[in-house]
Formats: sequence, structure tokens, C-alpha cells
Amino acid sequence: MDQERNVCIRADRLSVRFTDHPILDHLSFEVPEGTVFGLLGPSGAGKTTLIKVLTGQLCQNEGKAEVFGKDTRRLTAEEHRKIGAMLDNYGLYERLSVYENLAFYADIYSIPRRGIPDILKSIGLYEARKTAVSKLSKGMANRLSLARALMGQAKLLFLDEPTSGLDPATTREIHDILLQQRKKGTTVFLTTHNMFEAESICDYVVLLHRGNIIERGRPVDICRKYDHLNKLHITLTDDTELALDNNRTSASAVKEFLEQGRIRSIHSSEPTLETAFIELTGKGLQ
Ligand SMILES: Nc1ncnc2c1ncn2[C@@H]1O[C@H](COP(=O)(O)OP(=O)(O)O)[C@@H](O)[C@H]1O
Ligand SMILES: [Mg+2]
Repeated sequence: MDQERNVCIRADRLSVRFTDHPILDHLSFEVPEGTVFGLLGPSGAGKTTLIKVLTGQLCQNEGKAEVFGKDTRRLTAEEHRKIGAMLDNYGLYERLSVYENLAFYADIYSIPRRGIPDILKSIGLYEARKTAVSKLSKGMANRLSLARALMGQAKLLFLDEPTSGLDPATTREIHDILLQQRKKGTTVFLTTHNMFEAESICDYVVLLHRGNIIERGRPVDICRKYDHLNKLHITLTDDTELALDNNRTSASAVKEFLEQGRIRSIHSSEPTLETAFIELTGKGLQ
């Protein structure tokens, strides 16, 4: 990973167990400042549990969990102020309006209220500022949660499935906001089970399966590592469908089909984070 940057989050043999069975099993990783880090895994992998440990909401971990160089169990109010977190719309007040929710949060954390209109505009919720949270769509409530996480001008953002269940346009808006945050030097730690999200906005990803890290790296490097899964999908004129390895071992067969005029269509399938995950676990991410 980038050696120039300071480490913002560090886990070293971090484990969590509620019973005998570990939910997180000796995880070690570092997140450099100013990067977007993605924790990719299916439901039940342990993603939310890890966010809870890293934000100091869950303290029964073994091993090391640090943010800003401090044990997450001992973060001061000042350090908490530098962290913005979005977990399951947690902490939104249904009967208060969009504006009132942010104002309430601002007052608790001694953040000036005057920044609220700009945040609401940047996240496309200004027009809905007087609407009660109970009347918001899921996408709007998600954006309000994100707005709240952005309120204190956090240096570090934890976002638990920030675009889960959102339409593609809203998802793109949220991605743009996160990339703007990165530009400002904010560190973003997000969880997702959407491999497109991981591939398009994360600098670095960790694949989590049943509390274990099974793969890690830049999305492009992970996909390249699984290039042996790259296939040529060929449909012949008699409707036969073939999947051949996309390398020189298939050259003579393809040449022959072409010469005989027997190919109706041909396309290659590049490996994705999903194919890597399936290769490693036998299961998809959904
Ligand atoms: N408080 C808890 N007590 C016992 N088991 C829990 C608790 N919280 C989560 N789990 C279990 O830990 C595992 C990981 O859960 P979670 O971190 O929510 O996964 P994810 O966010 O990846 O879907 C699941 O099997 C879940 O049932
Ligand atoms: Mg979760």
C-alpha cells in the first residue's frame, strides 16, 4: 500500500466472539489516510460488527483496533468528533424534519447550525428540509444519514452499506460525494456487498467471508490475479454454447470455428471481484 500516507485505521489480529464461534477472526489490515477502503462481503460476513468495533460502539474485541493511532475503546470526545458514522439510518428521529434532525445533532456535538443548508444542498435534500423523516423514501433517509455523518467535517467516515437498496442515480450521487470527500483528504471506510461499488470507488478492498479476510488488494489487481477465470463465450450457428479459456490454448479451436463460418457470437468475460469471491468461497456476494 501507499507508504507516503499516515495510517488512519489499524487492525492487528482483531477478533470478536459472542459465543465460542468467532464473528471476526484475527483480522489484520491498515487503512491509509485519504483513501476509500471497501469491506466487501455477503450478509453475515461480519461487516457491521467490524464497523462497531472501529467506531468504539463494541468494546469486547481481542487484538488491536486503532483509529488515529488510538485504541478504539479509549477514544476521547474530541476524537469522536473527527469520526462520522452512518449505520442503518441509526439515530434518525422519525417525527423530526430533515432540518431538525441535523440541528439536533449539531447541538449535541456543538457544531454550528449555519453549515446545515449547504450540507442539505450538496446532498440534494434542501427542498425536503421541512419534511418529517417518517415521510422520506429510503434513498432520502439514507442521504440524510450520510449528511449527518458529514456534518462535523469528519476526517474519517464509516459508512455501512451506504447505497444498499438505492436506485442507480442516487447511488452515483452518493459515490460523487464520497469521492469529493476523498479529494478533501477524508478517509472513507465503507462496507458493501455490491462488487460494482467496490470496483468503481474503492482504492483498496478486503474480501470478508465468515469473519475472515480471504483476499485483499486494489480491485484491479485482484481481478487481474483471477485472470485464469477469463473465458471466451461462443455461440455457434447451430446454437451450441461453449466457454473456452481466454488464452492461447483456445486459439486453434477458435480459428477453426472462424474458418468454418460457424460462430454466431463471441464475447469474453473479464474476472470481477464477484468471480474472485466465488472462486474462493463457492458462493456469490448477494
Ligand atoms: N450481538 C450479537 N450477538 C451474537 N451474534 C451476533 C451479534 N451481532 C452480530 N452477530 C452475528 O455475527 C455475524 C456477523 O454479523 P454482521 O456483522 O451483522 O454481518 P454483516 O454486517 O456482514 O451482514 C452474524 O452471523 C450475526 O448473526
Ligand atoms: Mg451489516
